[in-house]
Order: sequence, then structure tokens, then C-alpha cells
Amino acid sequence: MTAASLAETAKAIVADGKGILAADESFPTIKKRFDPLGIESTEDNRRSYREMLFRAPEAEKYISGVILFDETIRQKAADGTSLVELLESRGIIPGIKVDGGAKPLAGHPDETVTEGLDGLRARLEDYAGLGARFTKWRAVYRIDEEIPTAACLSANAHALARYAALAQDAGLVPIVEPEVLMDGEHDIDICDMVTEEVLRGVYAELAIQDVELEGTLLKPNMVLSGKDCAEQASVQEVAERTVRCLKRAVPAAVPGIVFLSGGQSDEQATEHLNAMNKLGESLPWKLSFSYGRALQAAPLKAWAGKTENVGAAQQAYLDRAKANGEAALGRYAA
Ligand code: 13P
Repeated sequence: MTAASLAETAKAIVADGKGILAADESFPTIKKRFDPLGIESTEDNRRSYREMLFRAPEAEKYISGVILFDETIRQKAADGTSLVELLESRGIIPGIKVDGGAKPLAGHPDETVTEGLDGLRARLEDYAGLGARFTKWRAVYRIDEEIPTAACLSANAHALARYAALAQDAGLVPIVEPEVLMDGEHDIDICDMVTEEVLRGVYAELAIQDVELEGTLLKPNMVLSGKDCAEQASVQEVAERTVRCLKRAVPAAVPGIVFLSGGQSDEQATEHLNAMNKLGESLPWKLSFSYGRALQAAPLKAWAGKTENVGAAQQAYLDRAKANGEAALGRYAA
């Protein structure tokens, strides 16, 4: 795999009006999504649910790629086709989450470092053989008094950079995901400051590890008021601050920035992305989406584990995908 083909894949993922469905929930996370709806988290239910999304008619108009979980990349649809082939047959690029999750950071009780570098080269080769063309690794930063610490910033940036270099070696586009959580009472100024510091640190480490930025994508949080902050920033302010923060910290060689939704409502996530793309600024990178909850909350609720709801659930998913596809062009109207 050449640097040029990595860059080509990265660009295809952020083609005009398209973004990513993040369907890479780990076992505990998918259980947490299924539980409130009374859906049992069995292998078969997880497969049926994801297959329903992957088969949704016309999704490929707005969805360029899907991030899979280890179980899913090995699963077959009800008719025996592999789920990877199913996506490929629709022109949707299969990707895979490769991190081992956020684990307690030694000496820093309230912080985490994402693990999973040991044995990663072999796992990446396995995933490439299974048809993955891009990968994701998520680092998590919580805001509170005195945190994130320099230790947390440095450990996670280093791991993200080592991961990104290994992914490119295996011919896979790395999506670098540093997520500053929206949990907490902090205001938007703090989120802005922390996000900028996190991103600067991540790009410094990517440079040290000689990662080819043209063959990467960034998946960051938006710059938001903390969820429990008394004063919530307007859509316009979120858009302006997020774009300004990214302009300060993300090199122009990166082809695309695909936001996570991170606990925003689906409508908020769409409106924020739309407002950024409507600013009319000339930006070096595409701004699109790689949403999990913001794309899936509505279809999951509509499906509720019942075969007779598949059509309605696929329509609910398509509605969100279309809205976000339009937002990626700054053409969404609520
Ligand atoms: P959310 O959009 O639900 O934050 O999920 C995106 C994701 O992949 C988190 O790692």
C-alpha cells in the first residue's frame, strides 16, 4: 500500500456530503444501548441490528464508511454473505476499531490511557486480510480541576501516534480520535483551551512518529459547553469556536475532520456540523461526521429488536444520515 492509496482512501471517506457511521460499540457499550429497550445483547441480536443498518436502502448516498467492531468484521449476514462484503457491494468502505479501550492511567486516579499497542501489528494484518481499509483508536480526556494532566496528554498522544504509524504500515488509514468529554460543569472556554492543547500534543507526536498526515483523518470532539454548565453556548458559537480551535491546531495536510457526537442529541450534532460548514470560511480540510449515537439513537429505538420494525428503523437511520450528509455541505434545514 502506497502513501498515495492511503491518501485516496482518506479522501474517499470525506467525499462531498458523506461521512461515517460508527458502529463499533464494544460488548459493554452495545449492552448499555440495548438494555433500556429491553433488547438482549446476544451475538445474533447484535448481528441483526447492524445488518439492518448496513442494508438500509440508499444509505451509501450519505455514508462513505462504517467503523466495525471485532465481532462484526467476522460476522455473516442472515443470507451467509459476510457483513464486510455486504458493505463493499454497496460502495461503503469497511473500517475497524483497533484500540483496547481506555484503562486507568497509573498514578492518576481520575484519568485514562488507551491501551492496545502490544500485538497491534499482527491484529492490523488480520483486519486488513478481512477487508478493513481504515481503523480507529480513541483516547479519552476528562475535564475537571487539575485534569487532564500533562501525563494524560502525553501518554495518549504517544499511543495515538504509535497506533497511526502501525496502521499506515499495514496499509490502513488511521482515524486519530482524541475525545475531550463533554461531561462536567466547565464552560466552553475550558473545553476550547483543553481541546487545542490536546490536538497540538497529538500532532506533535504524529510528527515525531513520521505519520503521513495526508493518509489520516482526525475524529475530534466539538468545542462545547460542559453538559452540566449553567450557560450553554449557542449553535453559532459552537461552530465558530470549534473551527477556530481546529485552525489553530490541525495541520492543513490532514484531508478531513470527522466529528464524534459524544452525547449531543442527534439534532444538535447535525446543527453544529451544518453551522460550521455554513460559516463560509475557506478551510484546508473537509468537515464531516463519524457519529455513533447521533446516527443510531433513532433507528435503534424504532427497531427495538423486532423484525417487523426493520423498515421503520432503516428509514429513521436514513433520515439522520441524509441530514448529516447535508450538514457536511452546510445545506441542512431543520
Ligand atoms: P458517538 O458519536 O456516539 O460519540 O460515537 C462515536 C465514536 O465512535 C466514539 O468512539
